[in-house]
Amino acid sequence: MAGLLIRGGRIVDPVAGIDARGDLRVSDGLVIELGAQLEPRDDERIIDASNAIVAPGFIDMHVHLREPGYPEKETIATGTEAAVRGGFTAVACMPNTNPALDAAETLGDLQERVARDARCRVYPIAAMTLERKGLQPCDYPALARAGAVGFSDDGDTVRDARVMFEAAMLALETDGVFISHCEDPSFASASGAPAIAEDLAAARDLLIAIATRKRWHIAHCSTARVIELIAWARERGARVTCEATPHHLILTSDVAADLGPASRVNPPLRTQADCAALRRAVFDGTLDALATDHAPHTAREKSGEDAPAAPGFSGLEIAVGAYALALEGLPLARFIELLSCNPAQILGVAGGTLRAGAPADVTIFAEREWIVDPSRFASKGKTTPFSGRRLPRRVVATVVAGEIRYLAPELAA
Ligand code: DOR
Repeated sequence: MAGLLIRGGRIVDPVAGIDARGDLRVSDGLVIELGAQLEPRDDERIIDASNAIVAPGFIDMHVHLREPGYPEKETIATGTEAAVRGGFTAVACMPNTNPALDAAETLGDLQERVARDARCRVYPIAAMTLERKGLQPCDYPALARAGAVGFSDDGDTVRDARVMFEAAMLALETDGVFISHCEDPSFASASGAPAIAEDLAAARDLLIAIATRKRWHIAHCSTARVIELIAWARERGARVTCEATPHHLILTSDVAADLGPASRVNPPLRTQADCAALRRAVFDGTLDALATDHAPHTAREKSGEDAPAAPGFSGLEIAVGAYALALEGLPLARFIELLSCNPAQILGVAGGTLRAGAPADVTIFAEREWIVDPSRFASKGKTTPFSGRRLPRRVVATVVAGEIRYLAPELAA
């Protein structure tokens, strides 16, 4: 495979402690060298990264690719094309598929589809309970052997505290992180569960995380209280990390007035005070990861015509710009830590650095404004509350295992 020379960018690698202008050479799927003025080789392709930032590949640890079962919402091909356009070199996909990702055989089938269709790396999150029913734990070692990097019933909370506790005990010897969707089901309603439902579910799982010492991650935090609870649990020995989505960082429930039924998302959009608490948690280090919860649905499902509108937004293609909008003033190294280094560490996967020998997964982005037009998304999901918004940062190129998987039109020309 011909090599690639990424020239003249600001290379930021928080893990290696690098923030300097320079060139990056990759070949055979790996980072070869970083240097001030690397000489191009004859067979090498060149990307001009001047005026851009060169970072270890972004990893979105919370994505719904909808296969198997819901190809009308998204497929591995369309979801991972959306990922690379959004600057992601890897995604972790959630198990609320049909069938659910609760058995090694189903995961094996998924891995075959990924090998055939995916444009970026895909790490499966397997279900926490059989059929995601919240009744019986899955066979965690078997799922881990089949490639699962974590376990979650995302979309639903495991209703029974005892099942959750026993599942965590059973999974102790397995590496994969437990990922909680926090929404006490007794509060579920089409208009969205109130903050107390999220706080209660998070408090319970954090207590179980303290008691069991299982490694835990709280998905899509949306309330100020959950952030406090996470800090509280950490002080008591919980091995817990957490994430926030672009929409929860900056959008409040007022969006419902503009978007109507399509504004439905779980957890729901909340108050200014909640958004501010999440943003503070990004700046002060409490939050570990930014993740989109990319949750594509068909236009009809989002319209609310036939039933309550399906919850969730298309997130992959707006993420980098929306995070920058929400987190103005965040140091670049911290931005990259939240999008690359930390997700790699939480999932226990390769990536998160551009050191020589690391996988050649690279995200190149620039401080350049653009306007969101969902009709141009690669994702089948076209609903985003950021539609029409002017965002301050955009992806210039995405390189996966040394191959250019996305190149902004002005560079491709
Ligand atoms: O809004 C959401 N949609 N939240 C979730 O947790 C699940 C997701 C989905 O799968 O559509």
